Amino acid sequence: SETVPIPHPPRIPLIGSVTSFDREVPLNTFILLAKQYGEIYQLDLFGKIIVQLNSYALINEVCNEMRFKKTVAPALAEVRDLISDGLFTAHGDEENWGIAHRLLMPAFNAQSIRGMFDDMKDICDQLVLKWERFGHDNIIDPADDFTRLTLDTIALCSMSYRFNSFYLTEPPQFAKAMVEYLKECFARATRPSIVQAMMPGASAKFQENKEFMTSVGNKIIEERKANPIEKKDLLNIMLFGVDPKTGQRLSEDTIMRNLLTFLIAGHETSSGLLTFMTYYLMKNPETMRKLRNEIDEVVGQEPIQLEDLSKMPYLIAVMRETLRLSPPTPQRSAAPVADTVLGGKYFVKAGTYLRLHIWAMHKDPTIWGEDANEFRPERMLDGKFEALPPNAWQPFGFGARACIGRAFAWQEVQLVMASVVQKFDLFFVDPSYNLELQMNLTVKPKNFHIRARPRNLGP
Ligand code: HEM
Repeated sequence: SETVPIPHPPRIPLIGSVTSFDREVPLNTFILLAKQYGEIYQLDLFGKIIVQLNSYALINEVCNEMRFKKTVAPALAEVRDLISDGLFTAHGDEENWGIAHRLLMPAFNAQSIRGMFDDMKDICDQLVLKWERFGHDNIIDPADDFTRLTLDTIALCSMSYRFNSFYLTEPPQFAKAMVEYLKECFARATRPSIVQAMMPGASAKFQENKEFMTSVGNKIIEERKANPIEKKDLLNIMLFGVDPKTGQRLSEDTIMRNLLTFLIAGHETSSGLLTFMTYYLMKNPETMRKLRNEIDEVVGQEPIQLEDLSKMPYLIAVMRETLRLSPPTPQRSAAPVADTVLGGKYFVKAGTYLRLHIWAMHKDPTIWGEDANEFRPERMLDGKFEALPPNAWQPFGFGARACIGRAFAWQEVQLVMASVVQKFDLFFVDPSYNLELQMNLTVKPKNFHIRARPRNLGP
């Protein structure tokens, strides 16, 4: 059948096709281009050819693991310098991915995650206490406090390690090193190599941060080996587990890389979800009221119990709707295994870098209707979520390479959001605030500030 050329913005020699690229928030550029070009376009980004897919139909087609495989996007490829073949950044054919995947899947299943509830609550209580004690005058940066929370939670649950972020004015050194490091990875991926070569300062800092994080990872392993504990946390599973398929164990290097992987993959994403969700709830007082009614009915004024979490369907609808409108990992990458034709008309060669614009697909009107840009959790209730076409909602990625931490994030966010809504009335510092984005490896709200006033619960 006839194929047609993939549309592309005009190309400029040397720079490629992008003249006004939003370096700080590339997502903004991709959102604009998707509006302009529709379901597909091709981009030359400083010499890298990217085919960007925006529609449900095309992205659903790429959700076929016989025809397409995950690729490690340029920014993630930079992170490989630190975590190499750790789960997130491994290439599909790397042996350590299979070993770690088989060992860790059971450790991340629903049953294991339920066992982490008390540790999650420990950290959640620290956040609640902080907001209560500082009181209504205090200006809160939710992205900052939620990042402290998610970092402390993943470290405590996965390796029984305490960052104690809520007891420090500045974020812990590890968190700072990580944020700087990821920012730099992200910048490198969109910087022409000639510019990169002229930035030795950035490179020295990059190296220093990498060494610091590696040393923390190694220290955690050394301490555990010197002081073994019974707990079946992820660190112990990696230290002592044997892969049922190959009989192999993970080397200490691989363990260290996966520890750092959990810290990286397991905290920015969840804190993004918490922050977006806070924003959408505050912008939609009717939704907030419904959610609070649900929490008051199920939990009342008591501390939240594990059993409560399965009794709050509206909370889940709010989480799903937040992840639809603002998936913290807005794009993922894949490549065709062999030469192929997309959508019956676009020819793409084997190995072509395809970028799946999940952020745009989550607003495709053919799936979500004309009010696709509105926040409306009701579209996720009463069996409507289950009735969605396959792969229409995929904030956690897809297939073999989908998020291993989904159940973990789910329970953590349920607990924290329910606690916040149960305990506080929230207020915008700037009542006219509208969502702005900031972006490192993930995206979250920017310049968003709130106040929290403890609810007057008692008689
Ligand atoms: C993979 C999103 C929380 C660990 C992924 C992918 C997405 C994602 C989209 C696939 C990436 C790709 O295709 O390249 C999210 C979101 C989260 C979240 C939105 C929270 C709301 C977590 C948590 C952990 C985690 C809490 C760890 C405890 C991982 C790992 C992978 C992954 C290790 C790689 C899996 C593999 O390729 O084998 N995540 N994630 N994530 N995530 Fe998450």
